[in-house]
Amino acid sequence: MLERAKYLLKPSARSAVPPFMVMDVVAAATRLEAHGRRIIHMEVGQPAAGAPATAIAAARAALGSARLGYTETLGVASLRRRIARAYTEWHGLEIDPARIVVTTGSSAGFVLAFLAAFDAGDRVAMALPGYPPYRHILSALGCEPVGIETTAQTRWAITPAALLEQHRAHPLKGVIVGSPANPSGTMMTASALAELIRCAEDAGIAVISDEIYHGLDYAFAAECAARISPDTVIVNSFSKYFCMTGWRIGWMVVPSSLIRTVERLQQNLAISVPTLSQIAAEAAFEGRAELEAVRRGYEENRRILLDGLPRAGLDSFLPADGAFYLYTDVSRFSADSHAFATRMLEEAGVAATPGVDFDPLRGRNFVRFCYAGPAEEMREAVERIGAWLEGEHR
Ligand SMILES: Cc1ncc(COP(=O)(O)O)c(C=O)c1O
Repeated sequence: MLERAKYLLKPSARSAVPPFMVMDVVAAATRLEAHGRRIIHMEVGQPAAGAPATAIAAARAALGSARLGYTETLGVASLRRRIARAYTEWHGLEIDPARIVVTTGSSAGFVLAFLAAFDAGDRVAMALPGYPPYRHILSALGCEPVGIETTAQTRWAITPAALLEQHRAHPLKGVIVGSPANPSGTMMTASALAELIRCAEDAGIAVISDEIYHGLDYAFAAECAARISPDTVIVNSFSKYFCMTGWRIGWMVVPSSLIRTVERLQQNLAISVPTLSQIAAEAAFEGRAELEAVRRGYEENRRILLDGLPRAGLDSFLPADGAFYLYTDVSRFSADSHAFATRMLEEAGVAATPGVDFDPLRGRNFVRFCYAGPAEEMREAVERIGAWLEGEHR
C-alpha cells in the first residue's frame, strides 16, 4: 500500500520548474545571521518599508467591524474604481473599471493572463535577463517560454526585429514586456515600447505588460501600455510602489474581450482575493505622501550605489533607470557569479543574487543588488564591498 502511494505521488513532469535561487541566498544569509553575523540584505526584491499608515488603519478598522467574507470575483467595486482612477492621475488615461481585475499579487495575474490568452504548446517570448517566474509559470502551464537575449544597445529590451526573427523561426503566441525591468532596472523609452507593442500586435502576438515597478522610475517617466493599445494585458501590483508585498494583492487591466474569461478562471482558481488586503489596498492610495518619501529614499540609494560601487571596484552595470535594482557585471572578478555572490556573502556580509536566476547563460557574469533598504546600509555595503575586493585582489 505504502509502495503504491509513493508511486502515485510522483511529481508531474510539468512541475519540474527550477528553484528561485535568490531564496537559496536568503537561506545562506539566515544561517550566517544565526551565528551572530550582521548581513546587509540586498538579495530579495522587496521594500524595507511596510504598507502606508492609511492601509494599516483601514485594515485595523475592518478587522473590528467587517465580516470579511468573499468579495465579487473581479474585486471590490470601489477598489476597481479607485485603481481605474489612478490611471487618470498617473497617465491621464480613461480606463473602464470593468476592465480592472483585482488579483492575489501580480503573480496570480500572470497565471490568469497566461491561462486566458495561451494554450498548452504556445510559444511566449520574454527578455533575457528577465524575471524567472515568467518562464517557470509558462512551462508549468505547458507553454513554451522563449528567452530572447537582449543587449546594452537596446537598453536590454526586446526589439521588434528580434521578436520577428523568433516569430519567423517558429510562430509566437505572446510576448511579455516589463519596464522598469527586473533584474536590470532598465526601462524602455515610450517610443521603444510603442514600436514593440505595435509590431507584436500587427504580427498577431499578444502582449502582456508587467508594470509592477511603475511609480519607481527615475531616469524618465515609464510609459503605460494602455496608452499604446487597448488589447494589451497589463499586470500590476501593490507589492512594490505601495510596499505591500505580504498582503498579496495586485491587479490586471484586461482587454474587454477577456474580462469574462478571466472572471471564470478566477472564480474557479481563487473565488476571490483576500478581502482584508483589498480594503487595505484601496486605502493605500491615500498614503501617497508616505510612499513618495519611500521613493525618494530609493533615489538616494541609487545615487549612493551609482557613485560608490565604481569606487568599490564594481564599475560595470546596466543603466539603473527604475525599480530598485542594479545589475552588475562581475566577470572581471569571477567566471561564476554564484561563487562570487557566495564569497561576498561569507566574507563581506553583503547578500546579493547571482544573475543565473535571470539569465541562464550570461547570468554567470552578473550579480543583482536590490537597493530597497535603508540608505545607511547602502553606504555600509559599498564600504564592505570595497574593502573585500581590495583585500581579495591586492
Ligand atoms: C518583475 C516582477 N513581476 C512580478 C513580481 C511578482 O510580484 P507580486 O506577486 O508580489 O505582485 C515580481 C516580484 O519580485 C517582479 O519582480
